[in-house]
Amino acid sequence: MAKTALVTGGLGGIGTAICRQLHCDGYTVAATYIHNGVRLQSWLEKQKADGFDSFHGYFCDISQWESCAKLKEAVEADLGGVDILVNNGGITRDATFRKMTAEMWDEVIVTNLSSVFYVSRQFVPDMANRGFGRVVNISSVNAQKGQFGQTNYSAAKAGMHGFTKALAQEVVSKGVTINTISPGYIGTDMVNNIAEEVREKIRAQIPVGRFGTPEEIASVVSFLASENAAFITGANIAANGGQHMY
Ligand code: CAA
Repeated sequence: MAKTALVTGGLGGIGTAICRQLHCDGYTVAATYIHNGVRLQSWLEKQKADGFDSFHGYFCDISQWESCAKLKEAVEADLGGVDILVNNGGITRDATFRKMTAEMWDEVIVTNLSSVFYVSRQFVPDMANRGFGRVVNISSVNAQKGQFGQTNYSAAKAGMHGFTKALAQEVVSKGVTINTISPGYIGTDMVNNIAEEVREKIRAQIPVGRFGTPEEIASVVSFLASENAAFITGANIAANGGQHMY
């Protein structure tokens, strides 16, 4: 029976590429979304037109524990358990520190970091009981190096590394691995929304000479989700075009 993969923020730039890659790898793929169902419908239609006709979409506000509990019930009822969890959903609320409000701080910490606990807590215990599981957390180069204008985002994404290393120790003996990927700047809406002159300065700092593609992140997820990655846990894989080497 095909394994089931759940991708949070699955309708976004990197999320869509991850869903498609995992579909090609033979998984049953479920994606969570936060915006209204109209967006889900048009996303599903687009995927179908491109030959990906079997995705499952679930509303989930990953920043709310109750919403994550409902997600688990719904996914279990439809698909059974989850074997692969990709914590990909996240937001930015960029501002210099002196302009950052408590609301901007809280929103990013809860959506990008608390959500990783909320969603993983639903699915990881069952993975451990079944003796197999893969969790892949999508962090950021800015967790590793810090970024001007992102005290909130850098803190939340760095928190994912600590979470990953701690949980990895608790579940490794049960066949569950948990790893982090730290993408650099990927050509998605999130990066395209940065003011052009700032964006071009950032691009100039990337030795590869370009932004990454969502597919270049999806291929790392694919590897970490596979049986071949059984010996890798608590690790972080950087994919940033050489922007930060650590
Ligand atoms: N280093 C040092 N100083 C800098 C700087 C930098 N990188 N960038 C700007 N400054 C300076 C400016 O020269 C200016 O100085 P003066 O006041 O002396 O003229 C000052 O900082 C501007 O401060 P403001 O508070 O007025 O800044 P702003 O409101 O115009 O813009 C910002 C702030 C929105 C955060 C903007 O700098 C920005 O968009 N930065 C990029 C943030 C970024 O990289 N976000 C990543 C989003 S994508 C993502 O997060 C995905 C991922 O994982 C990689």
